[in-house]
Parts: sequence; structure tokens; C-alpha cells
Amino acid sequence: MASKTNLAVLISGRGSNLKVIVDNIKSGYLENVELKAVVANREAPGLKYAENFGVPTYMVLQGDLTLEEHDEKVMQILEKHKIDLICLAGYLQILQPKFVNKYKWKIMNIHPSLLPAFGNTIHAQREAFDYGVKLSGCTVHFVDAGVDTGPIIIQAAVPVKEGDSEETLASRILEFEHTIYSKAIKLFSENKLTIEGRKVVVKRDIIVSPEKLDLKIMRRIGVSEKALPNFIEKTKAIAEKVLLVKDVMPREAIIMKQEMLALGGDCAVPKECVLNSLVPLDVLIIGNEKQLESLVKKLKQQPFNLPIIAEKIKSQK
Ligand code: GRF
Repeated sequence: MASKTNLAVLISGRGSNLKVIVDNIKSGYLENVELKAVVANREAPGLKYAENFGVPTYMVLQGDLTLEEHDEKVMQILEKHKIDLICLAGYLQILQPKFVNKYKWKIMNIHPSLLPAFGNTIHAQREAFDYGVKLSGCTVHFVDAGVDTGPIIIQAAVPVKEGDSEETLASRILEFEHTIYSKAIKLFSENKLTIEGRKVVVKRDIIVSPEKLDLKIMRRIGVSEKALPNFIEKTKAIAEKVLLVKDVMPREAIIMKQEMLALGGDCAVPKECVLNSLVPLDVLIIGNEKQLESLVKKLKQQPFNLPIIAEKIKSQK
């Protein structure tokens, strides 16, 4: 694994995205990330999540400074901490060209809409709701010279339900924000993101290897914390063979889980499995020799890359 990614998060308020990033570093999901500094440009309750985690926080008020002068102060902090990646998480200020150029493709932002719809506004959820869209969502993108216009890393589509209000829609979108922001950071920290023109390409390398069934590996792949204790208890008895399969797509992971459950085994999948998008993730197959043999046969009949995954499982059994 490459050296750790030194992360800085810039906020202006509540900090719920920051909180989840901190939780994911603590759990080991973001094992390759070190949070080095959190900067706010105004009184921000979210700073407490960094303080409680023992991470330096900075308040850089704009006061009489120009936007460029303010950016300069923030950049000094980033330099001091040798920052590799900057995440804007509800940072209500537009970074000026000097900042964006200096950290080209090293700044991410999260926006609560399916860009390019409802960009360049701080009321994206309200505008989407008032417009009457049936699908809204959120986007993590790299920051370029425009506002909410940079290359898209991950998007999650979130349906609008009958009876929704702006608030219920916003809170449903927020849950997905929390999933995709950490996932984008994880991909960056694993050197899996490259930019070709406007497109972000996510590297995929399907690898199967034996693993131990424990909390550490579950947290590293991103199994929901709530599901963990029961899952370990339930699968202990059937964990004769445990295989880690890297870079599976969500739809492939769901089929693998269904097949393993039908065979009497199980499959641990991460939270991002709920995304209806093609973002590679890691899963853990849990079962015995016979179940794995049957799984290989079943997956050979399935679509997507499942026949290739089957071959790799076979060579590891
Ligand atoms: C989020 O909705 C994010 O998409 C937007 O600002 C909000 C920040 O929320 N850019 P929080 O401060 O992370 O709770």
C-alpha cells in the first residue's frame, strides 16, 4: 500500500460529512488516510469532531481580507501539514484560481444534487424538490476553476418519495453523501483515480485472497457498524474458508451474496453496495469448500464480470 494520504477538510458549519470521515478513519475503513487539519472560515459547530479526535483545527475568518488573501492563509496551513488531499465539506466559499491550480485534482467537493443539475447554489435540494424531479442525489467531484463543474468521481441517485418535503429529501440525500464522500476519499488514497479529460477513471483490479474472519477486515471493507456484532456471531460457525474478493461491482456483490446465502454460507458486503452505480468495492466470502465449489459453478452462469471472478475464486480454493 502506498504512503498515507494527508487529508485536510474545509468546513463552514454542521460538519456531518466531516464526522463520518473521522468515524471511517477510526474504524479502519479509511486505513490509508491521515486527517491532518480541519479549517473553518466561520464559527462552525463541526470543528468539534476534529477537536475530539485530536486533530488541529483552524478558524480563518475572512474579515477584511480579499478572497485571494483568505485562500493564501488557508494554503499556508495546508503547506505546514503537507496536505495531499483537500475535501470541501459544506465550505461556503469559492476557492480562487491560484488555490485551485496549486492543488490541481487534489481538491474534492460534495454537492447535494446530481450534477450538472442544480449546481452553483446552496439550495440544491430545495430547487430539485420545487422543480418536481423524481430522482435527485449527490455528487463528489474534483474541483476545477468553475463552481460545481469539475470531473465527477461518484454520484448516488436518490428517489423523491410522495409526501416528501424539502427536509425529508435533504436528509435522505445526506445519508448517501456520507457514503460516497468517504468512498471517493478511499479510492483516492488507494491511487485508484485518474483523470482523462473530463472523465474520472476508477482503476479496477479483481484479486482474490484468503483472509481471517475478524472485525478488522470487516471494518476495512466498510461493513455497516450496526451489522457487525451479529454478523460475526452468525458466521463464525460456517467460516471454514474466508476469501477476500477485491474490486467487485455492487451488482456483482449482491449476486454473490444471494448465491452464498442460498448455499448456506454468507458474504460480507460494504455499505456502498446500495449504490446503483459502478464503483468497485471489496467483499468477504464465508463458507466451506463445497459451498465455494458450488458458488464457482453458479457464478460462471452469471452476467457482468462474475465468470472471471469465479475463475479467480477457483484458483484460490
Ligand atoms: C452538504 O449537504 C453538502 O453536500 C453541501 O453542504 C452540506 C454540508 O453538510 N456542500 P455538513 O456540514 O457536512 O453536515
